[in-house]
Amino acid sequence: MSLPHLGSGSADLNSRLTPHNSTKVWSIGGGKGGVGKSLVTANVSICLALMGYKVIAIDLDLGGANLHTCLGIPIPERTLSDYLSKKVRDLKDLVTPTPIQNLSIISGAQDDVGIANLKQMQKAKILSKLSELDADFILLDLGAGTTFNTLDFFISADQGVLTALPEPTSIENTYRFIKSVYHRKLKMIEDLLELGPIIDQAMNAKISQNSTPADLVNRVIEINPEVGHKLKAEISRFVPKLIINQVRTQADIDIGFSMKIICRKYFGIDLDYVGYLEYDATVWQSVKKRKPLLMEFPNSGLVGNFDRIVHHLLNIT
Ligand SMILES: Nc1ncnc2c1ncn2[C@@H]1O[C@H](COP(=O)(O)OP(=O)(O)O)[C@@H](O)[C@H]1O
Ligand SMILES: [Mg+2]
Repeated sequence: MSLPHLGSGSADLNSRLTPHNSTKVWSIGGGKGGVGKSLVTANVSICLALMGYKVIAIDLDLGGANLHTCLGIPIPERTLSDYLSKKVRDLKDLVTPTPIQNLSIISGAQDDVGIANLKQMQKAKILSKLSELDADFILLDLGAGTTFNTLDFFISADQGVLTALPEPTSIENTYRFIKSVYHRKLKMIEDLLELGPIIDQAMNAKISQNSTPADLVNRVIEINPEVGHKLKAEISRFVPKLIINQVRTQADIDIGFSMKIICRKYFGIDLDYVGYLEYDATVWQSVKKRKPLLMEFPNSGLVGNFDRIVHHLLNIT
């Protein structure tokens, strides 16, 4: 097979494109199920692996784990269930190779442990152990919902990628997810900068019904310019990436640009629209065959879409 845009892959450790102590974590989230998070995680992982990077894809959709299927492998023998139940002590021992060179998976829990049930300690432990894994890139497939655990995995990553469909329910869910992440992040900054009383003061100030989170930051700046600007700087470091999946028309593609404008206006944050994925019947064909899309249909139009997205995520344009 040939995937010309993706460059020639090499498993040679010396030819890795980044030193391995700079492991990057990318999380793939979004408001609801069925929007393509696992598809994106699997195929972005494959693209990176084909480029010669060492990649580990981790299924954190606890309770609905199916990333292994998108990568075309059966459920690995050891999954996060074994780690959470302490049957396996070391996260490294869950790393399972896939038939794709450079690409391994840590599979999600196969019992009914939902991510909401994950204890603070367990979450912290997983996050701290990620850096010990031998990889250039670790991709986290987050699953649906806006529980604190999901939000924290999203926030803790070096890059957070949102997947949305070009339909009103999905767009609403995506804003809801961004809003939840924003509030969670604000809370963390509040604690870090000990901003609590000032935020309360800003919140209690007479505000109009249409007041936005961006207005809140501006009120903090009015109350205390130094702290306010620090807060603004912290928030501006939050730049979620956006992928619109299953596009059929130019209007669908343009939704990403509108969402970018709305996020700037409402939240005062930059949403980085990294690209779209066409609606393509080869997706369900590959799912049905339990084969990874990019490997099974290397000539699909989606290959170009993924290529563009990955280059954007890598900041190569
Ligand atoms: N670009 C696409 N074209 C066609 N079908 C798609 C596309 N993206 C996703 N799908 C379909 O949607 C289903 C859900 O995708 P999935 O990645 O499992 O979503 P999530 O992980 O967000 O729940 C897939 O099984 C596939 O059939
Ligand atoms: Mg999924």
